[in-house]
Amino acid sequence: MSAVTGAEATLIQKAADRSAVFGVVGLGYVGLPLAVEIADAGYRVIGFDVKQGVIDAINAGRSHIQDVPTARLAPLVKSGLIRATTDATALAEADVISICVPTPLSKTRDPDVSFVLAAADAIGNIVRAGQIVILESTTYPGTTRELLMPRIEKGGLTVGEDVFLAFSPERVDPGNPTWQTRNTPKVIGGVTPACNRVALALYGPVFETLVPVSSPEAAELVKLLENTFRSVNIGLVNEMAIVCDKLGVNVWEVIEAAATKPFGFMKFTPGPGLGGHCIPIDPHYLAWKMRSLNYKTRFIEVAGEVNSEMPLFWVRKVVDRLNDESKSVRGSKVLVVGVAYKKDIDDLRESPALDVIRLLHQQGAEVSYHDPYIPSLDEDGEHLDSVPLTRERVAGSDCVVIVTDHAKLDYAMIRTHAAAIVDTRNVIART
Ligand SMILES: NC(=O)c1ccc[n+]([C@@H]2O[C@H](COP(=O)([O-])OP(=O)(O)OC[C@H]3O[C@@H](n4cnc5c(N)ncnc54)[C@H](O)[C@@H]3O)[C@@H](O)[C@H]2O)c1
Repeated sequence: MSAVTGAEATLIQKAADRSAVFGVVGLGYVGLPLAVEIADAGYRVIGFDVKQGVIDAINAGRSHIQDVPTARLAPLVKSGLIRATTDATALAEADVISICVPTPLSKTRDPDVSFVLAAADAIGNIVRAGQIVILESTTYPGTTRELLMPRIEKGGLTVGEDVFLAFSPERVDPGNPTWQTRNTPKVIGGVTPACNRVALALYGPVFETLVPVSSPEAAELVKLLENTFRSVNIGLVNEMAIVCDKLGVNVWEVIEAAATKPFGFMKFTPGPGLGGHCIPIDPHYLAWKMRSLNYKTRFIEVAGEVNSEMPLFWVRKVVDRLNDESKSVRGSKVLVVGVAYKKDIDDLRESPALDVIRLLHQQGAEVSYHDPYIPSLDEDGEHLDSVPLTRERVAGSDCVVIVTDHAKLDYAMIRTHAAAIVDTRNVIART
């Protein structure tokens, strides 16, 4: 057996007998659920994060991620299947290193791959023969090959022979009760066929379904296609909301009726705009990459424009509703209900509620908010604490704006007691 086959065969054997050790880099919304699934499959996991607080909590068996109950994490930590550290050199022991660090946009809305680079540099310092590195962070096509591969090979190792490299996009949908890390099919694109074989063998016990593709670039694009698809369709339906508003037609009625078509239509719903760490950001990774190749991704640009105008559209609705009551925005009490970027989760990143609050502030409104998942927020230099959603608070507000339709809120009470309601999610009509 040649040395090449040896490294591959050893890792595949370590998958079969679960003796492979996993390193998970970045223990946030993606990394911690992944670490737990890996440990549940019987592998030992070393979690690495740069935040001491995150590490301390995990080692104490406490979860900081809503989708991972502490009751699930604690036994895995206690049994030694999961341990966490801020020491990157601990990753030298790992056979598999899965990278789950953030990939945000810079101030100029270009990809900020500094976290990926920092993780790649840390791994580059400890990488050894017989390891596989799998990038999970959403990023532009070419990242795995252009940024990771040189760092992994810098000490003389060859990817596909003595060390392996793949991209496997994380698809987790926080708060989704049906589709979680384990049962969501997992796409894998290795740099070489051997990389694919090794990644498939190691991830096989962790995920119910694996979907191999022929290259990391294909896998990187799968994720970008999925999220661009959502962004474009949300943009389309948001534009339809504007169209219906101008025509005096109820957009929700139109969508519900269209959705009765059993083929050729997929239901998307309008709202206050895009939020979260994925849909508002990921398409720009692709747009940026294509700009560097002198191609303009028009659908991405247009969808981004329409979606980012939605907070202003809804703030204008607040102005109109107050006007109906012969009130000005300036000095009016506006209660924003729900600020997380989507229902039933505690994630405020990129939330359109922040734009709504800022725009209302700019027009002189006295803004307060209620969100059972977000105790406080800072926007536009102002600190706000979530206020209780009481009958008095609702009745004492000039307008209630529903931005996020959390399931556990009392919409009947809002409907009964609010002087004016602007409902970006149509939740009042639905409950
Ligand atoms: N949140 C989602 O719903 C979701 C879904 C699919 C894909 N993704 C993608 O997954 C990636 C991670 O997103 P997330 O939501 O988990 O982010 P997050 O901010 O929740 O977690 C990232 C973690 O990485 C840590 N970190 C940062 N730099 C590090 C470094 N150099 N070394 C080690 N740890 C480091 C941070 O401290 C943090 O704990 C992103 O690329 C994102 O686009 C996110």
